[in-house]
Amino acid sequence: MTSAVTIPRHGGTGGRTAVAARARQVLKAYGSGETRVVALDHVDVDIARGQFTAIMGPSGSGKSTLMHCLAGLDNVTGGQIYLDETEITGLKDKKLTQLRRDRIGFIFQAYNLLPTLNAIENITLPMDIAGRKPDKQWLAQVVDTVGLSDRLRHRPSQLSGGQQQRVAVARALAARPEIIFGDEPTGNLDSRAGAEVLGFLRRSVDELGQTIVIVTHDPVAASYADRVLYLADGRIVDEMYKPTAEGVLDRMKDFDARGRTS
Ligand SMILES: Nc1ncnc2c1ncn2[C@@H]1O[C@H](COP(=O)(O)OP(=O)(O)OP(=O)(O)O)[C@@H](O)[C@H]1O
Ligand SMILES: [Mg+2]
Repeated sequence: MTSAVTIPRHGGTGGRTAVAARARQVLKAYGSGETRVVALDHVDVDIARGQFTAIMGPSGSGKSTLMHCLAGLDNVTGGQIYLDETEITGLKDKKLTQLRRDRIGFIFQAYNLLPTLNAIENITLPMDIAGRKPDKQWLAQVVDTVGLSDRLRHRPSQLSGGQQQRVAVARALAARPEIIFGDEPTGNLDSRAGAEVLGFLRRSVDELGQTIVIVTHDPVAASYADRVLYLADGRIVDEMYKPTAEGVLDRMKDFDARGRTS
């Protein structure tokens, strides 16, 4: 029996480019006239494959908007977004839905688990919808790594917040998407559960070559990333590689101080 459909997507770039996602001159404006808000002001950014990127910046700086545009959850006013070599700006709804389903994973702050399904059913739901068979060995590894093996038959209401978020992380990883996006994926967790989830995301980058982008306010969460992007007023104003929590905190204080004196 051949297993052509289960060729691993990770381990080397497998012919794909080193850049997982790109934004080119992305403009996103809401409203018009006096109520017009420019949420993204001609943003250029490359998201490297196999890296963990954190997006930071003050409230209202455009972090969620950038993530939603990169993930094809929101359309842009101008500019282009590419996932690998595919330009997603301009894709018709149906193609875009397919692309999100087949190539992107999401972890939301509010978990977005279906209450009537148990943990394992929630984890495999996106693949069930797509009509894809989960790779059993991979699924077992994901479930084991997130530490949910003994909770698979529990429904979300029977799980703690941290466990629910781990289900959401497992769901994102199970389908081996090209890229995973998380908007404050640990925002609702206490620091211990948050550290578990972040540690797991980190390992999936190091050991499985996963590409991950998260939005966070938390310097400790950002310190798990390879690279931090700082947004202010819809622009990328700075970046930091190999961040430490102290370094990120210092940089944030810098911005605050500059903001007050300018
Ligand atoms: N649907 C919308 N209609 C109008 N304006 C919007 C809409 N969504 C976002 N905005 C505006 O766009 C700007 C960027 O919002 P965004 O949600 O990206 O900020 P953020 O950096 O994620 O903030 P937070 O840290 O508070 O989540 C804000 O000024 C916001 O008010
Ligand atoms: Mg936001």
